[in-house]
Amino acid sequence: MEPAIITTPTADQFEWCAQLMAASEPWLALRRGIEECRHAVTHPEYLVHIAHSEDVLLGFIRIHPRGVAGSPYIASIAVAAEARSQGVGSFLLRHAEQVFSHSRYIFLCVSSFNPRAVQLYERRGYRALGRLPDYVIDGADEILMLKRLPA
Ligand SMILES: CC(C)(COP(=O)(O)OP(=O)(O)OC[C@H]1O[C@@H](n2cnc3c(N)ncnc32)[C@H](O)[C@@H]1OP(=O)(O)O)[C@@H](O)C(=O)NCCC(=O)NCCS
Repeated sequence: MEPAIITTPTADQFEWCAQLMAASEPWLALRRGIEECRHAVTHPEYLVHIAHSEDVLLGFIRIHPRGVAGSPYIASIAVAAEARSQGVGSFLLRHAEQVFSHSRYIFLCVSSFNPRAVQLYERRGYRALGRLPDYVIDGADEILMLKRLPA
């Protein structure tokens, strides 16, 4: 399934993003509560784009335009549970890479206990740079990944 539309969220849609995050792994394990998720998705330094299919909200991506060493950083990506494994996440990643196509690199972090997400990023050309041990919670690493964008 390829979503037809990407837009910036309305107030209600910011709440949808926060609820999706707070109810999903890895944020449950990382102990991000709903208030922290609301703060994350509405933080003015971050760009949030939502993928829709007609009237159905499918997922969102949240990016800091200069989050790592002056390059864009994908801080969160989430797809509604019922819409996963149908290409929406890949569509959102491609969209972010297009929005920041003037950059040489784009970064993201993924939790060490989220191997399916790691596989998705590797398939899409991201490679691991290093691990941040016990970064959010003890016992789990955050893996910093980057992708070189086409010139
Ligand atoms: C990771 C995620 C954004 C990918 O979106 P998607 O629409 O499912 O992705 P695509 O359909 O383009 O690609 C499918 C791949 O995503 C990964 N994926 C699917 N479901 C996943 C899940 N629940 N958790 C983590 N990765 C998942 C798998 O690698 C999958 O490939 P497979 O179907 O061959 O196993 C989405 O699955 C999700 O929201 N997962 C929960 C939140 C999360 O893990 N976010 C990433 C934080 S770094």
